[in-house]
Amino acid sequence: MNIQRIDYQEIDSTNLEAARLATGGAAEGTLVVAKTQTAGRGRRGRQWDSPEGDAIYMSLILRPQAEAADVSGLTLVMALSVAQALQQLQLGGVQIKWPNDIVLNRKKLCGILTELHMENRCVNDVIIGVGINVNQKCFASEIESIATSILIETGSGMDKDMLIDAVMEAFERNYAIYQKTYDMTNLMEDYQAFLANCNQEVRVLNPKGEYEGIALGINLRGELLVRKQDGTIETVYAGEVSVRGIYGYI
Ligand code: BTN
Repeated sequence: MNIQRIDYQEIDSTNLEAARLATGGAAEGTLVVAKTQTAGRGRRGRQWDSPEGDAIYMSLILRPQAEAADVSGLTLVMALSVAQALQQLQLGGVQIKWPNDIVLNRKKLCGILTELHMENRCVNDVIIGVGINVNQKCFASEIESIATSILIETGSGMDKDMLIDAVMEAFERNYAIYQKTYDMTNLMEDYQAFLANCNQEVRVLNPKGEYEGIALGINLRGELLVRKQDGTIETVYAGEVSVRGIYGYI
């Protein structure tokens, strides 16, 4: 994959711009980077606060030759790549909160929003959007208890371009591995080494209700396996897992 970076001063959302470029035929590896977003998007229809200057907002276009079901793991592949890049840049203690939040000292450092576009029942493109809190000194009061930045946690900032390069380098390596099987077979061990909630009690919140159990790790599709109190093992592929003790508000 050849990374082709396009920079914007301001854009509505790098995910939206990447989707527009993909519709116009942009190649796999096109990376949209913006200094600020006016309509940054998070998961579940939430907003992603995107002030100018201190954070990374970027979205990568992929064109995997695979079924929709086989690309769901790509979001975990990006989470792994961000965690590895931060570790390589000497940031210790980074963890992944399944499926794809990067946390440090129990607060969120990075969010990932993956969007899949189909055409005639085939995958046309996959957009992986990444927001990393790098050099912010503070956060809005609504999110300050759960959000953090590299600067806040370590006392020293990080060069954003160097981090983007490190993430992309790790992603290219991991994507090539993922494409051999289109599942987590060869990345599982690396991913689980960062998994925050492994062998700990978690609360699973899904539309059917709430239950508690022990998170055992992921399966090849990247779903979380949770052992319930009655001994049965649930496969969590949707909904949200809350991890006790991972975030201050839980
Ligand atoms: C989450 O809710 O945790 C996902 C947040 C993803 C934010 C990034 S910032 C760059 C890209 N563009 C967007 O509009 N969202 C993603």
